[in-house]
Amino acid sequence: MFTIDKQDAPRHQRYALLLETLPAFLETDVPQVTLLANVSALLNVYLDTINWVGFYMLDAGRLTLGPFQGQPACTTIAIGHGVCGTAAQRLETVIVNDVDRFPGHIACDANSRSEIVIPLIKNGVLLGVIDVDSPVLDRFSLDEVVLLEKVAGMLVDFL
Ligand code: SME
Repeated sequence: MFTIDKQDAPRHQRYALLLETLPAFLETDVPQVTLLANVSALLNVYLDTINWVGFYMLDAGRLTLGPFQGQPACTTIAIGHGVCGTAAQRLETVIVNDVDRFPGHIACDANSRSEIVIPLIKNGVLLGVIDVDSPVLDRFSLDEVVLLEKVAGMLVDFL
């Protein structure tokens, strides 16, 4: 059984716990959807002040909705479109402090105010992205870039 009260620990402690806990969920003998489902749930437990977290995976040249936690979301995103498609095109993490100021932002949950998208890259090849939305402006900083790029790096070995 897995339980944590995410209100208990300060943010930096929760982030350290996430990185400690993640390997237990990185299984080699399960389908990709199973792996991503648990990782999205884990991110949702350890990240505070978010309203959506999940994966868009590259499929037939476009990003397709994968496992996530939050409101139902748009199912496909073209490379170069929205925050997800921009991070996928640039092959780099994109932070949007205010989604209303990002031209082309794709609004899935009207509560989202800021967003971070981390590409999943394996051997130089794009596999998909991790997308996290927050109902708070300026939610994401270098702390989340470092954390989520580590998560992405650990995860792609299992994809
Ligand atoms: N806002 C994203 C779309 C996905 S949702 O946030 C879940 C974007 O602009 O790519």
